[in-house]
Amino acid sequence: MSGTKLYEGKAKILFTTDDPNILLSRYKDDATAFNALKKGTIANKGEMNCAIASHIFQYLEKQGLATHFIQQVSPNEMQVSAVQILPIEVVVRNIAAGSICKRLGLPQGQELKQPLVEFFYKNDDLGDPLITDAHVAMLELATPEQVVQLKKLALDINHHLQAFFDRCSLILVDFKVEIGTDASGRLLLADEISPDTCRLWDKAIADPSDRIMDKDRFRQDLGNIAEAYQEVMKRVLAV
Ligand code: TMP
Repeated sequence: MSGTKLYEGKAKILFTTDDPNILLSRYKDDATAFNALKKGTIANKGEMNCAIASHIFQYLEKQGLATHFIQQVSPNEMQVSAVQILPIEVVVRNIAAGSICKRLGLPQGQELKQPLVEFFYKNDDLGDPLITDAHVAMLELATPEQVVQLKKLALDINHHLQAFFDRCSLILVDFKVEIGTDASGRLLLADEISPDTCRLWDKAIADPSDRIMDKDRFRQDLGNIAEAYQEVMKRVLAV
């Protein structure tokens, strides 16, 4: 049946449509952090992230990357291809920030010699733990071939996103993507790409707090959260 709620996540709701291969993704203003221990809303976030993600998915498609994006159908809704999401959060890091600093003692802001791809087990009850390829194989989260493809795809996305955000005068510190398989088994970039899922620093600002243009403003109570998202949207839509 069309319009049935399939799944409600922390930032989006997925609905069925008349076509079983197409879903409607509705972006919400809700914001959570630390596995939903911290909850709030960011004014207009749903519309801003939907606009940002739509633009970026179309950009990546133009670069030859397959995504689940079909079309934006309202300010906070897009049609997407129905995919089976792999239970792996794929993180790519260019600069040390966030959990890797805590885990490995790296200083915030240290540039990595080469992009680092990390896998986290998508499991809220366990707090999304970091996992290795051996864990992916043991838990049968993806096939060995898919692991190779995932890493290549993650680095390709990083390459194109770094160039894209550079044109927005933003530094892509790190990001998280979710990948799904369509009915024919093809891997598609799914979920969203937005200031909720990327760390973005303003290239022109040196102050470590002032330069933050993403959800870390919410996570760390830095204020001017919606303003930062608004500025990211303005720059993204201008590229
Ligand atoms: P981390 O440093 O907390 O591991 O986050 C790495 C990147 O992944 C950062 O850009 C934020 C993003 N991220 C999500 O999109 N969802 C999450 O649940 C977490 C923990 C991080």
